[in-house]
Amino acid sequence: MEYTIRVANTSDAQAVHDIYGAYVDSEHVTFTIDNPSVDEYREKIEKTLKKYPFYVAEDTEGKVLGYVYGSPLRPHDAYQWNVESTIVLAPDTPRRCGIATALYRKFMETLKKQGYRYVYGVIVDTNEASIALHQALGFTQVGHFKKAGFKNGKWKGIVWMQIALTEDVQAPQTPLPFDGE
Ligand SMILES: CC(C)(COP(=O)(O)OP(=O)(O)OC[C@H]1O[C@@H](n2cnc3c(N)ncnc32)[C@H](O)[C@@H]1OP(=O)(O)O)[C@@H](O)C(=O)NCCC(=O)NCCS
Repeated sequence: MEYTIRVANTSDAQAVHDIYGAYVDSEHVTFTIDNPSVDEYREKIEKTLKKYPFYVAEDTEGKVLGYVYGSPLRPHDAYQWNVESTIVLAPDTPRRCGIATALYRKFMETLKKQGYRYVYGVIVDTNEASIALHQALGFTQVGHFKKAGFKNGKWKGIVWMQIALTEDVQAPQTPLPFDGE
């Protein structure tokens, strides 16, 4: 299918809200139980873009098919070279067409240029599609927090998957802010 990838802007907040909202009832995709409001997504897009890429894939009519963005792994300063990723396609976006791969590759290419070192996918351990996507991209499992969350009457585990963007660096520079491209 034909699509383009571009930087998100605050007018994508409604689409991001609706796409994520389609999965909040599922214990396989997210531990979020109440979807944040459109205003909260607007703030998230604004805040994310100050530091990390936030890309959307859109079809030829401008419909958002899916998105990827970065967030801090942990708040403490020494973690600053690590990025947690979020990748989601709309429920009606065709699967296994490489859309998530294209979004993720662009995202990681930008993070690498900014000077980030590792990207982490944090995935419910029953989300086979997402685990397979991360494996296909070269991530490896570095952790498994069993029974980490309780949703829909069940305890669910989380796997942590990691990929290195750069070789070992002895004196890393502070990552550059996202330049909007
Ligand atoms: C997970 C998700 C992002 C994958 O998107 P996608 O565009 O279908 O993925 P791609 O086409 O780029 O897949 C790349 C590779 O990942 C693997 N893969 C992806 N989905 C798979 C599945 N359902 N089963 C097995 N392997 C899968 C395959 O190796 C695939 O390559 P191939 O199709 O050539 O065999 C999508 O299914 C989705 O948005 N799901 C709902 C939200 C979600 O779970 N997000 C992740 C939260 S952690």
